[in-house]
Amino acid sequence: MGIVFDEGLIDEIKSQNDIVDVVSKYVHLKKAGQNYKGLCPFHHEKTPSFIVSDEKQFYHCFGCGESGDVISFMMKLENLDFIDALRLLGEWAGINIDEISTSKKEKEEIYRKNNIYQINRDAAFYYYKNLVKEENKGLSYLFKRGLNIKTIKKFGLGYAKDGWEALNNYLLKKGYDQESIFKAGLVLERKKKNGYYDRFRNRVIFPIINTTGKVIGFGGRVIENKEPKYLNSPETPVFNKGNNLFSLNLAKNEVRKMKQIIVVEGYMDVIGLYESGIKNVVASLGTALTKNQANLLKRYADEVIIAYDADIAGQAATLRGLDILREAGCGVRVVRLSEGKDPDELVRKKGKEAFLKEVKNALSLIDYKIMLSKEENDLTTSEGKVKFVKSITQILKQLKSPVEIDVYIKKIARESEISIEAIKTEIYGNNKKNNEKKEIVDTRKYRSKHDRYTNKYNIQPLKPIQKIGYIEAERALLKLIINNKTFFQRVKEQLCFEDFMDQSNSKIAELVYGLYEINDSIDLEAILNQLNIEEVSILHQIKNSIVPKENVDKALNDYIKTIQKHKIVQRKIYIEEELKKLEKKENKSKEQIVRIRELCIDYEKLLRELKKL
Ligand code: CTP
Ligand code: MN
Repeated sequence: MGIVFDEGLIDEIKSQNDIVDVVSKYVHLKKAGQNYKGLCPFHHEKTPSFIVSDEKQFYHCFGCGESGDVISFMMKLENLDFIDALRLLGEWAGINIDEISTSKKEKEEIYRKNNIYQINRDAAFYYYKNLVKEENKGLSYLFKRGLNIKTIKKFGLGYAKDGWEALNNYLLKKGYDQESIFKAGLVLERKKKNGYYDRFRNRVIFPIINTTGKVIGFGGRVIENKEPKYLNSPETPVFNKGNNLFSLNLAKNEVRKMKQIIVVEGYMDVIGLYESGIKNVVASLGTALTKNQANLLKRYADEVIIAYDADIAGQAATLRGLDILREAGCGVRVVRLSEGKDPDELVRKKGKEAFLKEVKNALSLIDYKIMLSKEENDLTTSEGKVKFVKSITQILKQLKSPVEIDVYIKKIARESEISIEAIKTEIYGNNKKNNEKKEIVDTRKYRSKHDRYTNKYNIQPLKPIQKIGYIEAERALLKLIINNKTFFQRVKEQLCFEDFMDQSNSKIAELVYGLYEINDSIDLEAILNQLNIEEVSILHQIKNSIVPKENVDKALNDYIKTIQKHKIVQRKIYIEEELKKLEKKENKSKEQIVRIRELCIDYEKLLRELKKL
């Protein structure tokens, strides 16, 4: 962005926008102990784990981990960049940042962007008027394709006349300068550099509107059979194809309950589905999904359904896009449309229910990839089977859940008639490199000696658990005891809550110890209400810390030892320092000599204890 705002201005805007008030515009907050609490707007949940601190002016979601201040809240919630978030918060506080922001460069950049937004807005209005105010080829084309006037209005569709300078002249007359109209991507410069002409001519126009309602660019479709079928705005200071999705401005309001967004390829697909009543739809505008688009989708949806034409859907670029979605944390499923059909055609010919049925039957990303691989390889030949299994094992290696991997191993074993054992070896491999699956590694650490000896998974010996730091040990231990009272009772015999050295861990331990006095299980709510915002984030980390699923007893003891050892080592360091200080003194008093003797006795005791651990 390149704009640096005066810290003072940022502080001023923050102080005028109390985070509790701002969040309350979107989330129903209730007072809970020191904080406020509500349903997280960033992920789907039924019980509130979104905590807002009045004191710290900070929020943290105990469920999904999102956290930040009032500015980042607005950025995430309304999908704004930093400046736009600041601008909006400024408006609420009666501060116009465009006037205040200090440097000339900042002012210019803000002015340029705003100017382009305005030009785009006027252009969209102009195209729209062209389309609806009198008969024209664009309108008859859209009617022919089955659109009604309500939809045309909803999407603000338009028509670019069949002339060379209609829009340019209109915008010049409105007072915009030629340079800005050019920067907005609406006109092109003549070859001889003696003027400009409209980019979109004799085309139906689809304005692309961002989630804050600003027109950022346009798509234009030919009416007659000409090439290219679609033209889009070029990259401009406000438009980047890979950062936006067509119709997300409308779809985002339809996903609050479902948390599902359908991604199609084209403008007409979105519109066709919308008209049939399926409104949680966006278009990727004919390119493979980018990381930014994935993050944008993740903001509004937990699950993304891909509904592309069959020919595009299986392409490598598309598949990468799907992996990007998965990496962003979205559930991904893929609708398999038959050759040559797009969602628009399907819904117009067969109706809404037919399309929804396809969505319901959409394949999980893995199942979809398995299906593609099955189509690519001839499973009646040995060679085909090997290729099939190899390609699938590559995919399974990316999965985190061992349970999920297991399900798929069985499935492909059935289909390929290759043994489960062989497929497992293919996945887990014969060397360390292939053994990088996190969850699996973690449980392996605690495998029994016998398993390790037979080494059926070709596992390398792992570092002993003691190597992890005491803070991690404390957190893992807290996680275990929060979930299981029997574990707690064992831990209690060896550690009191003050033995947790980290302050937040100790506070949480104190609450857990207290709650177990009266209950048999821990209600996280009860803990949450007692924590400040930093401690909430620690509790979040505790919840997410990885604990073993096998050999928990051993792990429990290891954690306890790590904590005890840390305590002893800290004490040892303290005594060493004390002794050093005392020994430096020239004329030691009687008390000092006694003190030295006591410390030495303590010290030896510590050394003996350390040895025992
Ligand atoms: N697209 C593009 N440039 C092209 C062709 C396509 O930008 N030359 C993008 C458009 O966003 C288009 C999408 O890719 O909407 C999908 O292309 P296609 O399936 O060909 O278009 P449809 O949306 O199905 O449009 P129509 O039904 O009008 O043919
Ligand atoms: Mn189409």
